[in-house]
Amino acid sequence: MKCYGVIGYPIKHSVSPAMHNAAFRHEGIDAIYLAFEVRPEDLKYAVLGARALGIKGLNVTIPHKESILEYVRPTGIARKIGAVNTVAVERLEGHNTDVYGAMRALEEAGVNPEGKIALIVGAGGAAKAIAFGLAERNATVIVTNRTESRGIKLADEVRGAGDCIFHPYSRLEELKGRVDILINATPVGMRGFESKLPVPESIVENVVVFDTVYNPMNTPLISLAKKRGCKVVYGIDMLVFQAVEAWKIWFGFEGDAGVMRDAAIKALLQLQ
Ligand SMILES: NC(=O)c1ccc[n+]([C@@H]2O[C@H](COP(=O)([O-])OP(=O)(O)OC[C@H]3O[C@@H](n4cnc5c(N)ncnc54)[C@H](OP(=O)(O)O)[C@@H]3O)[C@@H](O)[C@H]2O)c1
Repeated sequence: MKCYGVIGYPIKHSVSPAMHNAAFRHEGIDAIYLAFEVRPEDLKYAVLGARALGIKGLNVTIPHKESILEYVRPTGIARKIGAVNTVAVERLEGHNTDVYGAMRALEEAGVNPEGKIALIVGAGGAAKAIAFGLAERNATVIVTNRTESRGIKLADEVRGAGDCIFHPYSRLEELKGRVDILINATPVGMRGFESKLPVPESIVENVVVFDTVYNPMNTPLISLAKKRGCKVVYGIDMLVFQAVEAWKIWFGFEGDAGVMRDAAIKALLQLQ
């Protein structure tokens, strides 16, 4: 039996084992996917230990997505954005499938970002992946962030890939009616965090709303967007499609998105 897994800290609420194990069963693949809690100071030993133990593939989550670059060789978009969420362990090769996951979630919802104005709230790993993906697809990206210096830095980095500017978090109301796609890439709205909107209510109008938060699925932002008749894109779909893409790296074909989505939703319900 082959072994795969996810490393993060903390990790106990991850729904990735449920998603991948359900898809393994569905495909008849003799493999198991486990969640490994890895403290930051142990990351090197976890990566090299995984290879020594014959673990085939790893997903990587908070807080290791950037620090793992010391131990794996980033390829493709992972090199460009400096963040890895999937590792082909034998080759110690790092990939970023978050970008694909977010772009595919938009595509599946019928949203083509080309020529659109997209506002991304946040400047962490998720925001960075989405900002690069959208800029490469010829959207105009506006980054906003609570800590202005981080937001400005991200906008500067993304500008190499396409159109990107920073807009102050305290002046978001100025963007009312000027944005086509609104993306929350902060934990605001996540279970255990502040259950509130990450943006002023007034800008949630005539806009596609993509909330990367997936627990709960119906965040305060998604609920308001639905009430106002906006098209919504769920964080769970980004999660599913980054997993689907990880299978292409590990197995050469996509995991079954429907099976993974059902398993993720079931696992989320069990966490409540
Ligand atoms: N669906 C998926 O597959 C997927 C994948 C990855 C992440 N996510 C979601 O994206 C979220 C962010 O992940 P990440 O990896 O980018 O985290 P991160 O690197 O820690 O970044 C967090 C961002 O959120 C901002 N933030 C945190 N608390 C805030 C608050 N109370 N008000 C306003 N802004 C706040 C931070 O602003 P400062 O710079 O001011 O601290 C920072 O920009 C996660 O919580 C998760 O829900 C989803």
